[in-house]
Amino acid sequence: KNNQQSTTERLQMVCQLLKDKISYYDWVGFYFRNGDKEELKLRTFAGLDTDHKIIPFGKGICGQVAVSNENFVVPDVQAQDNYIACSVSVKSEIVIPLFKDGENIGQIDIDSDTTDPFTEKDERFLEFVNQEVAKIL
Ligand code: SME
Repeated sequence: KNNQQSTTERLQMVCQLLKDKISYYDWVGFYFRNGDKEELKLRTFAGLDTDHKIIPFGKGICGQVAVSNENFVVPDVQAQDNYIACSVSVKSEIVIPLFKDGENIGQIDIDSDTTDPFTEKDERFLEFVNQEVAKIL
């Protein structure tokens, strides 16, 4: 709150740790609602740079999660019609909403270069990560 840079640095460390430690997590980022706008803004990430730093609500997997408030696991991105491609190497994606005081304020987004790697263990684990992250926001 009164120390934005430190919070972003901590979020950056979470992204880098997850990417480094879990072999099939190839891109890890946190998107948050951009003020009062109906859009998400990329705050920090680990992995290749992306053009998609702003995503309107409803667009792509991330934009859909901003509206649905529910986990979205995509085993094969090519089978999705409402999907925003960031890199040709990406095969699958998982997006878990991040709640602060019961409100969906953002999400963790993970891309994988492996097809269908995500299980319920990833969902439970990333829900836990988001709960811990919410405490420092
Ligand atoms: N694939 C996402 C866009 C964000 S990139 O994965 C970093 C989507 O469809 O919303």
